[in-house]
Amino acid sequence: MMEEVLSADFITRGLKTSFIGQRVLYYPSVDSTMEVARQEARQGAVEGTVIVAGEQTGGRGRLKRAWLTPAGNIALSIIFYPKVSYLTSLIMLASLAVVHSIESATGLKPQIKWPNDVLIGDKKVCGILIENDVQGNVVNYSITGIGINANLRLADFPEIQTTATSLSDELGREISRLNVIRHLLGEIERYYLALSAGESIYEEWRDRLVTPGKRVRVTAGETTYEGIAESVTRDGSLSLRGSDGSLTRIVAGDVTLRE
Ligand code: BTN
Repeated sequence: MMEEVLSADFITRGLKTSFIGQRVLYYPSVDSTMEVARQEARQGAVEGTVIVAGEQTGGRGRLKRAWLTPAGNIALSIIFYPKVSYLTSLIMLASLAVVHSIESATGLKPQIKWPNDVLIGDKKVCGILIENDVQGNVVNYSITGIGINANLRLADFPEIQTTATSLSDELGREISRLNVIRHLLGEIERYYLALSAGESIYEEWRDRLVTPGKRVRVTAGETTYEGIAESVTRDGSLSLRGSDGSLTRIVAGDVTLRE
């Protein structure tokens, strides 16, 4: 397939949203959409502004890792000005929206690995990075960054081949990024409006997680925990049952699922 042309106009035109993606900034190549979004948010960009990149040269992952976005994949950041009480839900919202958009656009059945990796089978297809600027009880801005391996040939990237997959590798054909992006922005708005209407999305997020019941290793900062992931709480943290019977609550970390 010829590489699909993306543009701000193409993306916005196909949307049925009222604010998410009504303003899109498209960069054929950029360091990181997080950086552009941050500058935009500081200048008061309208809520729902989306920064989309054709490729990223300095993509950022969680825990100071790099994130690969060669051409053909999806990298975008969305600007929100939420209430502080929404911040936990925003994490759940992004992964749920990704799951639904991948399902609608491709028929694949993704799942969520706590806190917010999206997997197909046991391999990661999407990563989510949220950067907040909070002072006391005021959120100056919150940026949700989403990277989806859309048309990534894992055979070309042996360093992540055992842990990552892509929509195109799963389907055996290239996919339309535009189609996935439109579904994604629509889903994000739907969930955000639900949240604003006082609905909870915790139950749906919890039910989509692969993690509960699994034997896991969790790295949180310098500490590594092992045990059975027992549950996830409403505030988004993970309860881990150690082999000595102890229960540890982990707010943020990186999970490896064990056999
Ligand atoms: C992770 O799983 O570690 C999170 C990866 C987040 C990647 C996305 S791609 C769009 C946005 N821009 C970045 O530099 N990172 C996020």
